[in-house]
Amino acid sequence: MKYGHFDDERREYVISRPDTPLPWINYLGNEDYFGLISNTAGGYSFYRDARLRRLTRYRYNNAPMDFGGRYIYLRDNDSQQYWSPSWQPTRRDLEDYTCRHGLGYSIIGSTFKGIEARTTYFVPLGETLEVWKVEITNHRSAPAHLSVFSSVEFCLWDANDDATNFQRNFSTGQVEVEDTVIYHKTEYRERRDHFAYFACSEPLAGFDTQRENFLGAYRDWHEPLVVEKGESTNSIAHGWQIVGSHHVRLDLAANETRTVFFVLGYHENPRDQKFDPPASQIINKRTVKPVIEHYLNAAHVEEALNVLRNYWTERLGVLQVTTPDEHTNRMVNIWNAYQCMVTFNMSRSASYFESGIGRGMGFRDSNQDLLGFVHMIPARARQRILDLAATQMESGGAYHQYQPLTKRGNDAVGSNFNDDPAWLILGVSAYLKETGDWSILNEPVPYDNKLNTKQPLYEHLQRSFRYTLDRLGPHGLPLIGRADWNDCLNLNCFSEEPGESFQTTTNREGTVAESVFIAGLFVLAANELASIADHQRLADEATLYREAAAKMQGTIDQHGWDGEWFLRAYNAFGQKIGSHECEEGQIFIESNGMCIMAGIGLNDGRAEKTLAAVEQHLATPHGIVLQQPAFSRYYVELGEISSYPPGYKENAGIFCHTNPWIMIAEALTGRGDRAFDYYSRINPSAREAISDVHRCEPYVYAQMIAGKDAATHGEAKNSWLTGTAAWNFTAITQHILGIQPTLNGLQIAPVIPTDWPGFTATRVYRGVTYHFDVKRSGPGNTVAMVVDGQPVAGNIVPLTGKTKVIVEVTLG
Ligand code: GLC
Ligand code: GLC
Repeated sequence: MKYGHFDDERREYVISRPDTPLPWINYLGNEDYFGLISNTAGGYSFYRDARLRRLTRYRYNNAPMDFGGRYIYLRDNDSQQYWSPSWQPTRRDLEDYTCRHGLGYSIIGSTFKGIEARTTYFVPLGETLEVWKVEITNHRSAPAHLSVFSSVEFCLWDANDDATNFQRNFSTGQVEVEDTVIYHKTEYRERRDHFAYFACSEPLAGFDTQRENFLGAYRDWHEPLVVEKGESTNSIAHGWQIVGSHHVRLDLAANETRTVFFVLGYHENPRDQKFDPPASQIINKRTVKPVIEHYLNAAHVEEALNVLRNYWTERLGVLQVTTPDEHTNRMVNIWNAYQCMVTFNMSRSASYFESGIGRGMGFRDSNQDLLGFVHMIPARARQRILDLAATQMESGGAYHQYQPLTKRGNDAVGSNFNDDPAWLILGVSAYLKETGDWSILNEPVPYDNKLNTKQPLYEHLQRSFRYTLDRLGPHGLPLIGRADWNDCLNLNCFSEEPGESFQTTTNREGTVAESVFIAGLFVLAANELASIADHQRLADEATLYREAAAKMQGTIDQHGWDGEWFLRAYNAFGQKIGSHECEEGQIFIESNGMCIMAGIGLNDGRAEKTLAAVEQHLATPHGIVLQQPAFSRYYVELGEISSYPPGYKENAGIFCHTNPWIMIAEALTGRGDRAFDYYSRINPSAREAISDVHRCEPYVYAQMIAGKDAATHGEAKNSWLTGTAAWNFTAITQHILGIQPTLNGLQIAPVIPTDWPGFTATRVYRGVTYHFDVKRSGPGNTVAMVVDGQPVAGNIVPLTGKTKVIVEVTLG
């Protein structure tokens, strides 16, 4: 069953009923100001950091679901009926409801008793504000006398404090109202230099800033007293709960349309110019007013919408493909790329499953996000790499997370996730392959953001490399620390305390438990580093890295191979995990995918053997589960993984992030049919038809789909913020379609399904636009390439100095 459809032409998903199984959301904003918005206008906004600079309030896990939003109420002043065109909060029966989620904007609208209202929400590029463009049309044959009420509830900045520190916060709230603008200035009188504002383009009939006045005592958002009565109270909030609501009266002739603009924004003043007059407590509005006026103007709003559209056309234009599969085309050309931008921006901080309070930017997460993002805006990827590297410690280890506002490592979570450092090498290598900008390696970067510790980025990579070698266990495999990629395989934790954090508790010395996954990752990363060293003509270093990779590979051969597949780890007692000898958890996806991606087993049949075992034990029609058999009880020596009921999350859920590793492994063994089959199983667009089972958005990947041991097999959770985005993008574009940036140039090595006649693609790479026309002449994967009419040996397109290059590829 479906709840909408894709409009590929407009790059939108069109939701045709408001009661989707879960709120289906979108993201507004690109750089500093962000918003989450659901198909019924739920969500919230923040400046840079969803925890520390939250503008509007949202109530996670509330009933009804999805509460707090950008709500408009309309009131028919003749019949006194009122409704919300976005369905929530009033939930009236609307005619022709649609929500169009597009790239950086959402349009939500409906008709009720002949009055159509459609709101376009977006954040203009480069601004710290959002525009709500509300178009209202009277389709009746008689004039309509309407009232429009806007509403937001302001958050008192720190979202955590806002939700907990009521004894203080009920007394601190302050506002100013001037013309049609409501200014939220809580704590501006003391240490904050920033305030929020909510402006309206039309003359006001009234306004409210105190929630109780707007809603009425003991009333809910679905029946605000002010809307019911059709009269604002012009309340000025002193403490309690700050809201912003404008009231505009609109008299519309038959068939008349009017547009009302609202602007919600964030503004900072220099510390010494906060007040105007200076000795007063009144906000200095000199620099904010021109910004507000600009966006209350219809022509400027149209222009900003166009700029946003063009921006996305250009970003997405870096790679466009036409394959025989519409789900592939749609995901690669539009939605997967878009999701990669969102994961780059948010890491794992703010979604409808991540509260924005718990987590900042993850070190391993953000490095992996680069894989799917770097081609779109290399300059931002470069900055991100430098920010991440600056949270690395002198030991080579890294803070597991950092706060985006301060860019400082998060002490509460700390470090010792022993896979973290290696991902930096892969992130940097992806950047180099895309851009050829070797200068980044010389960029001075501090350790732990400490003064006087700056070293070239290249040395950070060397320390990442050393970090693993400095921490080897009894078998010579890397020690796992708190966890490797799998946050929930906590082999040194041994927690018996309810509520204790599995990630930050370490009750064992940590000198025994080893990770085969990190071993595979190390082989991959060390070989990448060797190629980077080659390019820098550092032959001795390249040899050192290669030797270390080869040695680790030998250790994996000796202690990491289980006979049919790769082991996962050794626990704190030196016992095997992920072995046929185990009672539960005999085979895991991660070490198998990673070892094959690192090239291990590709020449001796072990890769095929492993993939056969993966297919037999782990594959389901909804994707590949993380391990089998699922843990049926809590194992104190394994940690959080066994805390989840079987089939969910890391305990044998389909953890989508890991599925592309198997797709890539299949592609590396030359089997395009199998790689593409796995790709299609979790492709959200291909799952659209079963939206009632899948439940999450059909246009983006979710972190997890419940596994075969779960009661709800096939049900997705934790949509949007997941490494699944970047890795699937990598698997389909670089390994299946085979358009792969390398240190030596752009490579074309497709491993596509045998029944595909071919595909075409356009790729902008280092300033050159490549047009690929791939045609199958036989079932194999051998590439014969003709570049601008000239046959060329190999599969790397040579640089010719031209800016447009036509590459014909025959595959057979
Ligand atoms: C989440 C985390 C990621 C981790 C994964 C597996 O997606 O963000 O860092 O690798 O879970 O535990
Ligand atoms: C990862 C895992 C999740 C775990 C969390 C701990 O996100 O996916 O299962 O609870 O890490 O921070």
